[in-house]
Amino acid sequence: MQLQDILYSQGFGTRRVCAGLVQQGFVTVGGEACDDSAAEFDPEGLQFTVQGKPWPYHDKAYILLHKPAGTECSQKPSTWPSIYTLLPAPLRQRPQKGPVQGVQAVGRLDQDTTGLLLLTDDGKFIHRMSSPRHHVPKVYEVTTKHPLDDTQVQRLLSGVVLDDDPKPVKAAACEAVDIHHLRLTLTEGKYHQVKRMLAAVGNRVEGLHRSRIGGLQLPEKLAPGQWCWLGPDDLTLLLG
Ligand code: URA
Repeated sequence: MQLQDILYSQGFGTRRVCAGLVQQGFVTVGGEACDDSAAEFDPEGLQFTVQGKPWPYHDKAYILLHKPAGTECSQKPSTWPSIYTLLPAPLRQRPQKGPVQGVQAVGRLDQDTTGLLLLTDDGKFIHRMSSPRHHVPKVYEVTTKHPLDDTQVQRLLSGVVLDDDPKPVKAAACEAVDIHHLRLTLTEGKYHQVKRMLAAVGNRVEGLHRSRIGGLQLPEKLAPGQWCWLGPDDLTLLLG
């Protein structure tokens, strides 16, 4: 694959811009400067730098973001900064493969919710992770306003009715870790589901953090606002 096309596929701008970056000497490949935009490389596993910044080639991008509080998962946020501002430009500019450009969040978290958020440009992966048929478990650490009791935990496990659907929704698992800390596992993702489920049992969410999706835990070393690439082992943990 030509170097200009490799850069283009990774979101470094139009083909013309990418050719210009190479010809102006802004690109190194495997540690060596390369100013021939038509030079051929096998992109798989390629490490290059653009203006001194290292970039590993990825055919598809799978990203884990530690979403901080006070951010919106929308590209066009109404009040709070968008999570997309936390990502480098190439991830937002990767050429269009599906209906939209760049990586997209796999589902959404509320403005005040923190924790594990996935982003990708792989439409099939978004569909697979979001489809209720696949029942991918998501684990939430919930801080409650009122003390938790056994009745609330049992009701969340046996099913509560939310205002928009007569069919009860159940937690796949639910454990009171302490008097104000609930660990709740859901396999579906209705709008404000955790908050509405807690309200349905007479409690209230004061803090909400997603700690795990499938078998993938939010890495402890990843601070709020930081992101990392996911590799094949992580995808296996996610998809089972
Ligand atoms: N449930 C909610 O209520 N909010 C979230 O952000 C995620 C799940």
